[in-house]
Amino acid sequence: MDKSRVRILVVGSINMDLVMSLERAPEAGETVLGDSYTYIPGGKGANQAVAAARLGAEVTFCGRVGDDANGEILLENLRKNGVDTAYITKDKDSQTGLAAIPVDATGQNRIIVFPGANGRVSKEDVDKALEQTYDAVMMQLEIPLETVYYTYKKAAEKGIPVILDAGPAMKVDLSRFEGISVISPNESEASAITGIKVQDEESALEAARYLARETKAGYVLIKLGSKGALLYEDGRHEIFPAFKVKAVDTTAAGDSFTAAMTLKMIEYGDIRKAMPYANAVGAICVSRMGAQPSLPTAEDVAEFMAQRGL
Ligand code: ATP
Ligand code: RIB
Repeated sequence: MDKSRVRILVVGSINMDLVMSLERAPEAGETVLGDSYTYIPGGKGANQAVAAARLGAEVTFCGRVGDDANGEILLENLRKNGVDTAYITKDKDSQTGLAAIPVDATGQNRIIVFPGANGRVSKEDVDKALEQTYDAVMMQLEIPLETVYYTYKKAAEKGIPVILDAGPAMKVDLSRFEGISVISPNESEASAITGIKVQDEESALEAARYLARETKAGYVLIKLGSKGALLYEDGRHEIFPAFKVKAVDTTAAGDSFTAAMTLKMIEYGDIRKAMPYANAVGAICVSRMGAQPSLPTAEDVAEFMAQRGL
């Protein structure tokens, strides 16, 4: 094992994404025709794991799939991407998670998630995975909240930095993340958690202050889509602008951004230095279709940045 690689544990969800391209999404009660569809490996946890692995991290995954064909395909896909699947349980009593994702002509998506086996990721699963040593733990909110809180508590006890990608949008008990290294929602997630409608820099800053006060997080990092990201620390904030690209499908932009930020923050020992890299990864991701097929390698990012003189 190469000791120079950053070791990341991802505790999270694994889904098969059913992605359908269409001109526009239907209104309630309306039927529209799609142009094409495909099955693509996804899930916020698995997307983050594959993103980090393609960028050069040594990634271990803790989660669950069902004992079915999709579970097998998704496990194999993680292995192919170099992710250690030793702590993924094949749950005999549930189906593998599935997400239905219509993507419209502007590249905007809507996501419906059937959690299946993700809903059974347990504290015992986490205990087993945490027997190993890691440089960081990444979590999201697509598995039971009690397991997410527990993961934070146990990893923090071991002194491991924990990064929470606070999606999908839901209310959480922020006191259970007291002292977390980084909490990173996107605009709608920040709105759902704080009750502050995040729509511009001012409201994002207000939400960041709220999150910092309630969690005492080291950093609050609010992802702002095509506007980039707002980083808040200790009363100061800075906007790191996004790169200009043509967005084809934003699925997994947030996941890949968080994974890249985590890897580079650990590697550089400086979250600010990690931000342009994370924005580059998010930009590449939105310029390609699908969740995991859109995730860049370290070489892709180097080329993207070199083309922009960085
Ligand atoms: P997801 O669609 O996976 O839920 P998200 O909503 O969590 O994504 P966003 O805020 O949309 O996350 O995007 C995350 C990052 O990706 C942004 O901070 C930015 O760096 C990059 N990004 C997103 N959209 C664009 C865009 N249109 N152009 C350039 N970069 C983008
Ligand atoms: O963040 C994008 C992901 O959200 C998709 O891959 C889908 O599976 C849902 O989990």
